[in-house]
Amino acid sequence: MPEIPRKWRLLKEDLLGRVERCDFTGPEANAPRVRRVTASAPFWMRPLARRLAAREARALDCLNGVSGVPNLVSFDGRTLVRGWIPGLPLQDAEAPEPEFFEKAGRLLDLIHGRGVAHNDLAKEPNILVGENGEPAFLDFQLASQGRSESSFFRLLVREDRRHLLKHKRTYCRESLTTAEVALLARPSFPARFWRATGKRVYLGVTRGILGWADREGAGDRGEA
Ligand SMILES: Nc1ncnc2c1ncn2[C@@H]1O[C@H](COP(=O)(O)OP(=O)(O)O)[C@@H](O)[C@H]1O
Ligand SMILES: [Mg+2]
Repeated sequence: MPEIPRKWRLLKEDLLGRVERCDFTGPEANAPRVRRVTASAPFWMRPLARRLAAREARALDCLNGVSGVPNLVSFDGRTLVRGWIPGLPLQDAEAPEPEFFEKAGRLLDLIHGRGVAHNDLAKEPNILVGENGEPAFLDFQLASQGRSESSFFRLLVREDRRHLLKHKRTYCRESLTTAEVALLARPSFPARFWRATGKRVYLGVTRGILGWADREGAGDRGEA
């Protein structure tokens, strides 16, 4: 018999659709899920919303079994269902300790080792402090896959690290190592170019049109 969802709770809604948590009854009662519903996006955004959901599905599939990444339950081209990870988004968690960022760095290495770059870690809501204090990364809509020999992929890996370090600088600046301070001080050329040009347009679109709140659409840490 198919599972019957007991309760649907809206987590987030924007022009790309809805993100909902669903709780189940029966044997699945302890395993809530999250679904990304692209059908609720306006028709003119739906093709983009589906492409991004497909991107997320590919990344999650590739990261299957990595603890700290939601497991992919299903994707039918329109609705993506993934597992729930108990915890709090970084901005709502109690001041994270340096140890949290060490673990998050190791998780990031693991993800990169599987050939996936997250590309959206500037946003605190995409980083979760798990109930057990373990880090988790959510929202792989912008993730890309690549090979370590590719210089472009290595650039994305570096930017992921920089974004994580910006959060570390916010919460435990004193524990940044010399190498980390140096990395923060050296944004890649594309990152500098982006800030000088595209970022303004991006913020205009995400805040003005998509309606993302600052912490969500632009929870981007200031530059070193
Ligand atoms: N698997 C999950 N476990 C726990 N919380 C989640 C999970 N997926 C999403 N959330 C919560 O829902 C929010 C929105 O999900 P997200 O995938 O980031 O959507 P969007 O792409 O619209 O930003 C997240 O910031 C997080 O607070
Ligand atoms: Mg998100």
